[in-house]
Amino acid sequence: MPDQYAVIGNPVAHSKSPQIHAEFARQTAQDLIYVRLLAPTDGFVAVVEAFRLRGGLGANVTLPFKGEAFGYATRLSERARAAQAVNTLKFEGDTIFGDNTDGAGLVNDLRRNLGRMIAGQRVLLLGAGGAARGVIKPLLEQQPASLVLANRTPDKAERLAQGYSGGVEACGYAALAGRQFDLVINATSASLTGALPPLPPGVFATSALAYDMMYGVGETPFLAFARANGATMLADGLGMLLEQAAESCVVVRGRRPATPPLLGGRR
Ligand code: ATR
Repeated sequence: MPDQYAVIGNPVAHSKSPQIHAEFARQTAQDLIYVRLLAPTDGFVAVVEAFRLRGGLGANVTLPFKGEAFGYATRLSERARAAQAVNTLKFEGDTIFGDNTDGAGLVNDLRRNLGRMIAGQRVLLLGAGGAARGVIKPLLEQQPASLVLANRTPDKAERLAQGYSGGVEACGYAALAGRQFDLVINATSASLTGALPPLPPGVFATSALAYDMMYGVGETPFLAFARANGATMLADGLGMLLEQAAESCVVVRGRRPATPPLLGGRR
């Protein structure tokens, strides 16, 4: 029987994880089965536990269950603790190991695929929800010159920043007027609804990279705004998706697959 893995979410039909992990397995000629599991919004634990007891070796967890997966794990990585969310589960005997590869996915995409240093750069992260929380620690570990967290509701950004002992500055969008950043990352859910975070137009420094964690929707309003306001490099979140999957392969199967063969459709 081949090794069994799953992605669990709601909705999950759109998830690209089965194709991505099938491609990774093909690269290394590994035989595995990777399925989509739809869990009812109040039924994550029942679905994942049944899969584990059927012999599943691990799972990727997507929205809206990353918080519940954090609670379900019996052992957690440091980065999962910082994110307070789990997107990768590995089952080993009675231990349920929970990790979070989203931040490493972003950092690896920036560094390996886009060739961008984070060290010494002025980084602006937009949003203060789960997507932002998942990447703060991995970004700080790269030692940017500064990390500013801007949110529509500034209090929420303040609360999030407090967890990082002074390394993160929090503010509202209006406070960004007159400031410039080398790397501007959209971790809000604004692109989901075709909305644009209320950024002042001057935030993009010369040679700035604008990065939208959203993917598969064409040019988002954020990327269009960045293009019109001086960002010289634009990227959507396809690379982050692939790199978080590659990193989860490292966690669960101990091997790093190559992502470039799948990067063709990125913007
Ligand atoms: P996720 O887990 O995907 O980050 P979330 O926890 O619901 O989702 O957080 C959504 C984030 O997107 C929040 O930071 C939200 O800002 P508020 O905290 O002020 O609500 C942000 N967001 C959503 N729509 C936005 C918009 N149109 N403009 C700016 N920020 C927006």
